Amino acid sequence: MNTKSISRRRFAHLVGIGAAAALVRPRVSFATEPSPARSTSSSGGIVRLSANENPYGPSKKAIEMMNGSYNLCCRYPDEHNDMLIDALAKLNGVSPEQILLGDGSGEILKFAAETFTGPSAGKMVVADPTFESIAHHAEVNGAEVVKVPLTPSFAHDLAKMGAAAKDGLIYVCNPNNPTASITPKNELRNFIANTARSTIVFVDEAYFHYADSPDYESVISLIKDHPNLIVARTFSKIYGMAGLRCGYCVAQKETIEKMRPRVMFDSVNCMALAAAHASLQDVDQVTNGKRLTNDAKTFTVTELDRLGYKTIPSQANFIMFDCKRPVVPLIAAMKQRNVQVGRLFPAMPNHMRLTIGKKSEMEAFLSAFKQTV
Ligand SMILES: Cc1ncc(COP(=O)(O)O)c(C=O)c1O
Repeated sequence: MNTKSISRRRFAHLVGIGAAAALVRPRVSFATEPSPARSTSSSGGIVRLSANENPYGPSKKAIEMMNGSYNLCCRYPDEHNDMLIDALAKLNGVSPEQILLGDGSGEILKFAAETFTGPSAGKMVVADPTFESIAHHAEVNGAEVVKVPLTPSFAHDLAKMGAAAKDGLIYVCNPNNPTASITPKNELRNFIANTARSTIVFVDEAYFHYADSPDYESVISLIKDHPNLIVARTFSKIYGMAGLRCGYCVAQKETIEKMRPRVMFDSVNCMALAAAHASLQDVDQVTNGKRLTNDAKTFTVTELDRLGYKTIPSQANFIMFDCKRPVVPLIAAMKQRNVQVGRLFPAMPNHMRLTIGKKSEMEAFLSAFKQTV
């Protein structure tokens, strides 16, 4: 019996304990039971609405699993890595060879930029504004980066992005960070079907769980027909694990194999693996997270509207609104009042990106915001 099989069995046992505990304990709403480690401290000073984090924290099942996993910390996490991959493959209806884990989906963005863009591989085409990290990695890799403005309805301008691409990679962030807007499903489907196979279409679905528009869909189901499609997901948002670092992507096996040489061995730690595995078994985490975020979002958008500020329709756990003046001094003014809001996105200098926190945090935001007018 080797140590790996022991640790694998131990982990499987813990998965079982987590499930059993959930059966015998009364159901608790994680909204009503904030612990000091979980809250973003609206009472203790800084209100952090700057990084699109989930203020409710990880699932209770994830915390129980991590508490039961300390004795695994002295082992390399190979087999636990495989167990999470198996679970994700099952969840997404693909084979384990079609999943690649990352130390957050940020690491996946890095692998993709390094593999598919650069002086010999091709350009990186991104929307403007969008989440900047993949373009940053492409630039470091020596690739040309082409930025294509969003359409007037804040969707990706797929026609222009396609026309700008040759080989390389087109990054589609859906829902898009920072605008929280979506690119309609029919447009994206057609675009994927019509993009040359020599160009990778990378769809970042970090905020997938928050999107409920009938015009939105995940494109994971299209992967079977498109060897040039990669879809990334993260445990940082609805699963509340931003500090633990775990993300993944789904693609055809051959596409994953192209990225695999870039992967650092054991980059996802055993606590993140344990928490991610347990989170997948907690459906309440997703439904509660969405409900609480939507309630606080509706409250905030309504109040902003009442004050005369227009918000872009949001399909994520953050909003972007027209603050009707340069956002940079406003960011500083909010910081002076202990409220951290999103950074400047240069393409939209009069818009503020605001993470949706707990209702009390949104009240703190609104009270500070009113003082700046
Ligand atoms: C669109 C998008 N993709 C990826 C990430 C990176 O997430 P992580 O590395 O925490 O998985 C973020 C983080 O905010 C994001 O907004």
